[in-house]
Amino acid sequence: MRVLELFSGLGGWHCALRHRGSVLAAYDVSEAANATYVLNHGLEPKARELATLPMEELASLGADTWLMSPPCQPFCRMGNHRDLEDRRSGAFHHLVECFKQAPPEQLVLENVNGFLGSDAHALLSAAIRSHGMHHLELQACPSRFGLPNLRPRVFVVASRKPLERLPMPSLPARALADFLDAIEDEALYLRAETHTRHYQGLDLVEAGDRRSACFIGGYGRRFVGSGSFLKTERGVRRFSPFEVARLLGLPEGFRFPEALSLEARYRLLGNGLSIPVAAWALDHLPSR
Ligand SMILES: C[S@@+](CC[C@H](N)C(=O)[O-])C[C@H]1O[C@@H](n2cnc3c(N)ncnc32)[C@H](O)[C@@H]1O
Repeated sequence: MRVLELFSGLGGWHCALRHRGSVLAAYDVSEAANATYVLNHGLEPKARELATLPMEELASLGADTWLMSPPCQPFCRMGNHRDLEDRRSGAFHHLVECFKQAPPEQLVLENVNGFLGSDAHALLSAAIRSHGMHHLELQACPSRFGLPNLRPRVFVVASRKPLERLPMPSLPARALADFLDAIEDEALYLRAETHTRHYQGLDLVEAGDRRSACFIGGYGRRFVGSGSFLKTERGVRRFSPFEVARLLGLPEGFRFPEALSLEARYRLLGNGLSIPVAAWALDHLPSR
């Protein structure tokens, strides 16, 4: 596959792709995301606003596959549900217009489950159908892939070639202990007053547990509904960014730019993909 990675973030699609193909170009407006991407993948994403990207530029790259994770806030349980009316859907809308006029051979889109049944979903499905392409809608969660983490997501897979639904893995989740740093960062422990204030709403887990809640971009700032907190003999702490990265299935050598703040690291991870789940979605594409 010759891939365009759109809304590339820290490069989750790049990690999931592996031997399946190579990324010709990645696009993201975020400086933090692009610095993390180039550090890990050796390719500098284009810092471009996708809502105004000329169609000719997309076509000139000679990609046969588009992989994309548009912003999920317009479709999120905790978002505003404004769907295509949300300004953050502008780039997706534009890309569907580009797709209508010059579609790639295949496309995979990832988003939150709320995307299913949205106007954005209907727009994309109509564009796919207008080219007589085959498509599948998949729903999957890393908890079925051996990872002790909830991150239910939907994938729209489209191809000119017929597609077949693959069996959903059903691997037992490993214990959280397997994903923890060898040396804890003491700064991640919550102060006593913070713990007391939020105690009732915190999602607490222990090292022996085989589940954790979905980590969202606000994990570095919010306590309730943003992900799980680890209860140890010493107290309650956040999972470190590297622990969250392991729970997403990012490779062990994954790095952040030194200067990137803790909040920015959590934001990137909270926007990210679960790698084994994304790889499974890619497995649905017919070999080329
Ligand atoms: C859901 S995240 C994608 C995460 C990515 N799949 C990963 O593995 O990290 C969406 C990304 O799109 C970027 N983005 C949002 N709106 C954009 C736009 N209009 N043009 C370009 N990039 C945009 C954000 O900076 C963010 O990194």
